[in-house]
Amino acid sequence: MTEANQSEPESRPAVLVDPAQTGRAPGAHGFCRERTERLRYAIALAVAVAGCTPGREPTEIRARPSAAAEETAANRRPRGEFERELAAAYPASPPRATETREFELRAAPGTTQQFDGRLLDVWAYNGQVPGPVLRVRLGEEVVVRFRNDLPQPTTIHWHGVRVPNAMDGVPGVTQDPIPPGGSFTYRFVPKDAGTFWFHPHVRGAEQVERGLYGVLIVDDARTLPYSRDEVWVLDDWRLGRDGQIDRRFVTRHDLAHDGRWGQLVTVNGDMAQELRVRPGARLRLRLVNTSNGRVYRPDFGRLEPRVIAVDGMYTARPIPLDGFELAPGNRLDLDLVIPADGAGRSYPIIDRFTRRPFGLATIRVEGEPVSTPDFEPPSNPHVPEWSGALDRPVDATYVLNARRGGPHGIQWTINGRPWGEHEVTELEGGRWVRIRFRNDSGRLHPMHIHGQFFKVIARNGQPLDVPYFRDTVLLHGRETIDVGMVPVDWGRWMMHCHILEHAESGMMTEVRVGD
Ligand code: C2O
Ligand code: CU
Repeated sequence: MTEANQSEPESRPAVLVDPAQTGRAPGAHGFCRERTERLRYAIALAVAVAGCTPGREPTEIRARPSAAAEETAANRRPRGEFERELAAAYPASPPRATETREFELRAAPGTTQQFDGRLLDVWAYNGQVPGPVLRVRLGEEVVVRFRNDLPQPTTIHWHGVRVPNAMDGVPGVTQDPIPPGGSFTYRFVPKDAGTFWFHPHVRGAEQVERGLYGVLIVDDARTLPYSRDEVWVLDDWRLGRDGQIDRRFVTRHDLAHDGRWGQLVTVNGDMAQELRVRPGARLRLRLVNTSNGRVYRPDFGRLEPRVIAVDGMYTARPIPLDGFELAPGNRLDLDLVIPADGAGRSYPIIDRFTRRPFGLATIRVEGEPVSTPDFEPPSNPHVPEWSGALDRPVDATYVLNARRGGPHGIQWTINGRPWGEHEVTELEGGRWVRIRFRNDSGRLHPMHIHGQFFKVIARNGQPLDVPYFRDTVLLHGRETIDVGMVPVDWGRWMMHCHILEHAESGMMTEVRVGD
């Protein structure tokens, strides 16, 4: 059983009327840092043994084993086993860099051809939307000389890349916002090969929507013999009557729903993306969802691709795509073989997340057949099983909900608190933790943790054997998801909903990983 969710999402009726443009000051990113008590097994266990439910624990989620059984189960497994399982799966430190790859990035307002050639005013990296694909090889150091020519401060966050904390691009936490006219050099050695992306972490709901995002690909140390390696950046656009990006950002309507959903969907900036391939070709197709709020469930029909990586990290084995959802922030790498007799055929790729399916793109087969490269798809055989994880206590619970108030009229909260009133979670580096997300709202929340990867271990109390890591997991309305994680990257990391309007209105907190 995988975690792919087959259920039809609820319809999305408007419940609040969109008020007029409000010209808000930046919402999120306050600077309050409260300390909270360190979460310890000892406390959780003591409480469990005493037979009462800890205050932060939900009570209705699942029939938990009795306190005694839980204690035995937790003790049965020598401490360290889960951590050792993780150690084989991904490295704590980067490879020693042999070479440096330098890139220049400039964020600035501009005009691009979008939607089949129409001119659109955007904010762009290096004048293009999507921004450039930065490509490096594992073992190379990435140096990005960045200049901000936007009318607002900004930063760059390297989504999913396990960077040194100071390179994480979070204003007020890991760096000062880069003012208009300012520069900053990002420098890091990626620890993992895979598909990542980058975007601002200042006023993301506006800056990402206006076009600021790009893809970072870290190639494996050894080249894989795919016939083609392609990236599809999925985004949606809400345009106003003038045909330009609707400048009302973080509206009450967005906040009362699953963020900002646009009326136009593009793949690589194109509403009718057509990938032309030769019969027999074997593709690695990297899907990246850079939308503020929209979730996709791509259906490749008879092509039947296999998922080889989720959120940049290889799966333990190839998985059928059926039902996989791509929430904001998520990536999926597909291994796709074009039928050798497919010449002349077209395969429509359909999005089926909403009740109204629509075409995302087309794969058109043409030209002379090529011989299909025959090789084992890349995988990570060391993705931990963590069997018995549900016998261990929950170390931290994050309840997701909304309240009225704040600069936008609605605040999205974690444990009842918006960013600025948030409680910092302190985690011991190198120690396995069980984290629970409980969605008390009816909306979607793709929860993202910076600088870490985790593995889903249960959905609504049902154990799941998921053979891959994630950095962003989608919660549907009223769902509870438990994840296991061994934080091995020290620092102050954001944890937030990747629906950027939800994050902007408060749905963000901080996880500190230390000794
Ligand atoms: Cu793409 Cu703070 O995230
Ligand atoms: Cu959310």
